Amino acid sequence: MVATPLALLSEAEIAEAVALVTDKGLVGERTTFRRVAVDEGNLGERRLEVWLYHADTKQIDELIVSLTTGQVVTVRTVDGMRPQIGFGEVPQAMKLVREDARVVEAAAKRGIDDTAKLQVDPWPTGNMGLGHEEGRRVARCILFYREDPNDNGYARPVDGLMAWVDLDDMEVYRVEDLDIWPLAAEKSNFSAGAVAERQDVKPLEITQPEGPSFTVTDGNHIHWQHWDVRALLDHTEGLVLHSIGWTDDGTRRPIMRRASLAEMVVPYGEVRETQAFKNALDVGEIGLGRCVNSLALGCDCLGDITYLDAAWCFDDGKPVVVEQAICIHEEDFGIAWKHTDSHTETAEVRRSRRLVISSIFTVGNYDYGLFWYLYVDGTIQMEIKLTGIVTTQSHRHGDDLRYAAHVAPEVAAPIHQHLFCARFDMEVDGPDNTAYRVDVVPDPPGPDNPHDNAFRSVATRLDSELAAIDVVDASKARTWRVMNQAATNRLGQPTGFKLLPADTATLFPSDRSRIAGRAGFATKNMWITPTSADERFPAGNHVTQSTPDGQGLPSWTRADRSLVDTDITVWHSFGLTHSSRPEDYPVMPVEYARCTWVPFGFFDRNPALDLPAPDHCH
Ligand code: NI
Repeated sequence: MVATPLALLSEAEIAEAVALVTDKGLVGERTTFRRVAVDEGNLGERRLEVWLYHADTKQIDELIVSLTTGQVVTVRTVDGMRPQIGFGEVPQAMKLVREDARVVEAAAKRGIDDTAKLQVDPWPTGNMGLGHEEGRRVARCILFYREDPNDNGYARPVDGLMAWVDLDDMEVYRVEDLDIWPLAAEKSNFSAGAVAERQDVKPLEITQPEGPSFTVTDGNHIHWQHWDVRALLDHTEGLVLHSIGWTDDGTRRPIMRRASLAEMVVPYGEVRETQAFKNALDVGEIGLGRCVNSLALGCDCLGDITYLDAAWCFDDGKPVVVEQAICIHEEDFGIAWKHTDSHTETAEVRRSRRLVISSIFTVGNYDYGLFWYLYVDGTIQMEIKLTGIVTTQSHRHGDDLRYAAHVAPEVAAPIHQHLFCARFDMEVDGPDNTAYRVDVVPDPPGPDNPHDNAFRSVATRLDSELAAIDVVDASKARTWRVMNQAATNRLGQPTGFKLLPADTATLFPSDRSRIAGRAGFATKNMWITPTSADERFPAGNHVTQSTPDGQGLPSWTRADRSLVDTDITVWHSFGLTHSSRPEDYPVMPVEYARCTWVPFGFFDRNPALDLPAPDHCH
């Protein structure tokens, strides 16, 4: 049986797609699979995207295959780009580095006699313009020391030493030993038993005696109060929401066609050679979908949980099934609204809650929770929970600490950013929408402003792509609205949703930096494009070692296409800048980055008036 077009990708379908492209003769001896994902663009049949990498020709084939018809629908061959590092290549690279004679010698100089105790972290090398990397597909490996296999490796960086692995030839082709720092003494383990636990924490149980208020049909179609949405796990973007809508009086109103975390970049500000190359594009270079955690009840999620399993395709074409990859549950969220009438001394109050759809992704040292929230009042929120271990470098007395923070004896953490690019394919009451930037401005003195108090919202229609590129400006209380000018509420106003951005910086590396040329999406907070099925990844489809030529949003928007009354996609870059603190070490307490959409004239009045009155709070 062929799955419905927006069903979660299954183990059987991955096997079917792999067999299909193999049968068609598209898989050579040195071909590996780099992305298998649901093609959400064609709802007539079940189609998958399959990206192949041919190591012999160094070409990538981007295929669309139809499981409905058993045909390869399209083949697009890409030259000069590199795929994500294959997870099958990672252990091979680690082994080669540990056994390399130059690494063994460099380790001995540091008093490490057993290189089996080296933790090897292969990083995408970025693109620093190094001649020796040109034409190669490279993992740059940095090293840490684990005396015991269960130690926290990041506590003891073996700084100054880097090894380059050519992943096509599978050889260590270069080792650089730049400097020797003393190995940090503290193990800084944080596993159970490593730290004395506080004793005053009593159990906290969440119970829903009648079960949760949501239902899941057709595998991944979630229905909750007025809302309904599909949840998918994409190989690259991780947790994706599809077809978000609100139903009232039997009428379903679409809001977003698709919402995802389309890219992110983590630039580091440290100038030391072992750190400066770190410009991780963790969505495109790593693929969040294949980093998804299997979640544990009572640990990752508390309460009455529904889990969805997910599958992704390993480089060798074998499906990997992750049980409990997507968590769906409800959270109490305080009060939805309240008023106390002081004349009658009575109060009306309603409880809020939110539907939480979440997954957690581990990328090397770091962990990202991607949490989507739907609220009772029509609010849609994307939240990223940042935790895990900060990247570390060695520190000795007298080292320059302008670009890194001393977080533990002999250990420093370089300053860095996490800039996320959310992609919202809007369809507020239908596909044709128009965007506005809204600034609040004080009026100048004059006859219309007799008390000098006047200030107002000024909405500027964003007619084309170049006009829409902008930054967050708290001094203007800047927001953006996406309106449907053909649909009106009972006041005759166009219906819409408003984006409330978080207080956020843009990319700090200079405009001349290579990472600014590769991750141009992060140099501004707002981009809007006409929706195109080919424009999904804001730094391009293949970002590994990508050239600093403005692929993705900077290049697309140069066409300055019209944005009026058409199908538009809003790209919002936002995030956090980390000057690390001692408290971020050895494992970082969760920090949050989020953006929020609220209805703006989409409803006729507060849509949460219909919440049931609690019967037990008087
Ligand atoms: Ni950080």
